[in-house]
Amino acid sequence: MSKTILITGAGTGIGKDAAFALAQRGHRVLATTQTDAQALSLEQDARTHHVVLEVFKLDITLEHDREKLMPYDLDVLINNAAIGESGSLAEVDMKRVRQLFEVNLFCTLELTQVALRKMIKRESGTVLLVSSIAGRVPMPFLMPYSMSKFALSAAGAGLRAEMDQLKKNIHISLIEPGAIHTGFNQAMTDSKYAWMGNSSYFSHQAEKMQKQERATFKLVEARSTQGIVKQIIKASEANRPKLRYVSPWIQGFGVRMARIFGI
Ligand SMILES: NC(=O)c1ccc[n+]([C@@H]2O[C@H](COP(=O)([O-])OP(=O)(O)OC[C@H]3O[C@@H](n4cnc5c(N)ncnc54)[C@H](OP(=O)(O)O)[C@@H]3O)[C@@H](O)[C@H]2O)c1
Repeated sequence: MSKTILITGAGTGIGKDAAFALAQRGHRVLATTQTDAQALSLEQDARTHHVVLEVFKLDITLEHDREKLMPYDLDVLINNAAIGESGSLAEVDMKRVRQLFEVNLFCTLELTQVALRKMIKRESGTVLLVSSIAGRVPMPFLMPYSMSKFALSAAGAGLRAEMDQLKKNIHISLIEPGAIHTGFNQAMTDSKYAWMGNSSYFSHQAEKMQKQERATFKLVEARSTQGIVKQIIKASEANRPKLRYVSPWIQGFGVRMARIFGI
């Protein structure tokens, strides 16, 4: 059955690929982007590929933009938009961490609340929160981002239990990508070098660290978004979606082991 699905941060990466794949499966997809320029470019791209998308700008940090959801009867909201920040918690400017939480947690939940208002009234709906396996194990120098995804995953599990008690047929699920080559990880890990000067506790190892990060991502990143897009489709189309959808599974397995052995 065709569903009405809104996705945030659909101008690039996983969000864009998920929007295309969902539309190709016959769903009505509202593909939203942070900026008007991204919306224009996405619209053109969709037209070139003969994919029907309804595209508009929705910066999740703006209340006025979040209210754009109101006219729609959404079956599924996919909270995909996020930003990345890295650096040691011993020295990172908390303004950066606050901004990260603003986008990845608070505004994501505010947008979810707008969608829930109508979903609860209609007694039907699914909300997907794109979190991360970085929200399951702490990773040094990635903690600003990692903490925001820990919080988002906890919020998703808690909200799911609340919606179960409400018995209004509302489903909350977490999408947990592992490392996937979209450029997001490189931009995130590099972000700390913009402010880590000579006075940084870690300046002596910065060069080696950057090389290591590049090499690690080259090794572990899935080359395509196909696996996680499949999981997003599964969660969007399920009548009773599970709590967690992970891809690549091997990275999910690794994280499970890390938790069992207390890392
Ligand atoms: N790639 C991975 O390895 C990986 C792993 C785990 C989880 N994830 C998660 O997967 C999701 C998609 O990431 P991706 O890899 O596809 O990276 P991406 O291409 O950077 O996607 C994130 C999208 O969110 C948009 N965005 C940022 N702030 C926004 C705002 N205020 N309002 C609306 N949109 C906003 C970005 O727009 P701009 O381009 O303008 O910034 C971008 O289009 C994110 O939630 C990310 O945390 C990714």
